[in-house]
Amino acid sequence: MLRVFIQTYGCQMNEADSEEMFLHLSARGAVRTDQLDQADAVLINTCTVRDHAEHRALSFLGRLAKWKRENPKRIIIFAGCAAQRLGKALQKRYPYLNIVAGAKGIEHFSETLDKSGLFATPGQPVASPVGLSAYVTIMRGCNFNCTYCIVPSVRGPVTCLPAQDILADAARKAKAGAKEIMLLGQTVNAYQDGTVSFASLLNRVSEIPGVERVRFTSPHPLYFTDELLRTLEQNPKIARHIHLPVQSGSTKVLQEMKRGYTRELFLEKIRALQAAGCHISTDIIVGFPTETEDDFAQTLSLVDEAQFLAAYCFKYSPRQGTPAAQMQLLPENILEKRLSILLNKVRDLADATYQRQIGTVQEVLMEEPHKGRSSGSFWVQTKTSHPVGNMVSCKVVKAEGTLLFCEE
Ligand code: SAH
Ligand code: SF4
Ligand code: F3S
Repeated sequence: MLRVFIQTYGCQMNEADSEEMFLHLSARGAVRTDQLDQADAVLINTCTVRDHAEHRALSFLGRLAKWKRENPKRIIIFAGCAAQRLGKALQKRYPYLNIVAGAKGIEHFSETLDKSGLFATPGQPVASPVGLSAYVTIMRGCNFNCTYCIVPSVRGPVTCLPAQDILADAARKAKAGAKEIMLLGQTVNAYQDGTVSFASLLNRVSEIPGVERVRFTSPHPLYFTDELLRTLEQNPKIARHIHLPVQSGSTKVLQEMKRGYTRELFLEKIRALQAAGCHISTDIIVGFPTETEDDFAQTLSLVDEAQFLAAYCFKYSPRQGTPAAQMQLLPENILEKRLSILLNKVRDLADATYQRQIGTVQEVLMEEPHKGRSSGSFWVQTKTSHPVGNMVSCKVVKAEGTLLFCEE
């Protein structure tokens, strides 16, 4: 038996990839452990979207030197986006590293394991237990080239998985107990497989027996077509929460980022989504090299207008090889200042969003006897207890922090 400790950094796609890599390890007799000192192998699935993310993965790898010295037979696999970016250079810097498996090679992970000669001959894979909510990857890579972003270079261009495979994966997970399916891709709503559009895929997944709710992340504003909007309006199983990254409130900066939309178009899209009952969360980058005080003020005013449920705010981090990395950086103190102003604003507005839910009715998927997640992604505490996995309809009587208190 081979005990594997898995450490995943980065986005949900990486979480899903870790599961997939574990399947190949399980076919070679591996079981998971959450105790590093008892593990025979470590799989680090890495992110490189910002310098900080990559740094965390590398410092974990650095700390493993001692772990490996304790037992040189132990195996270290460094996978994912940072592994793709840094490539072979890693083995020179960390000679105790056994396998580097870049994000582009996830389809060939099984062969990579075999080539290493470190594992038993593959047998039957054993999937990890499925929770109430399960990820299903529907596309890999990205065809955009946002000027700040490293993802297209480490993940490659888009490939959409065949709709049949996606439906089979979702059906297997639903059968194993998942009530909620989260469809994943970097521009998930750009999905197209022959005649199957993203909108029709959403409907088909929602028709799978046992599936009560469908979520997806991350969509791109440009692919919010009328067909998708109609589908969303007509299908109550599609969650009323959409994570739609905006990045900046200034049309000028959006152009320099090559996002392909204006502030106005973004606002138009989210208004249509909000009219369909959706809550919107977003990602924002502060301190893009060309961002002026006025551009930043436009981001603040967009946050005022948009009524986001949540906004994940990041300081711009230059990524080697991207077009924006050639530009002159803004001073760090400006980035710090803008980030803290933005975070304060986001917090205040999110509080108001929670207060506004008082009196509304929420559809909640129970994750604990008294607690669950609503279709709009709010955490909800119920008055009476319910079986885990049940859908409960209840009315909000109070909001405290990021929790809604409901009565059924
Ligand atoms: N595909 C998604 C985003 C994926 S990356 C989209 O296009 O919407 C996740 C988030 O990381 C982005 O939304 C962006 O806000 C942030 N990000 C990406 N590159 C960054 C960089 N160089 N510096 C800071 N934040 C960055
Ligand atoms: Fe990066 Fe832009 Fe692709 Fe999103 S759409 S992954 S931000 S290049
Ligand atoms: Fe990070 Fe790769 Fe996801 S760079 S955000 S783990 S696609």
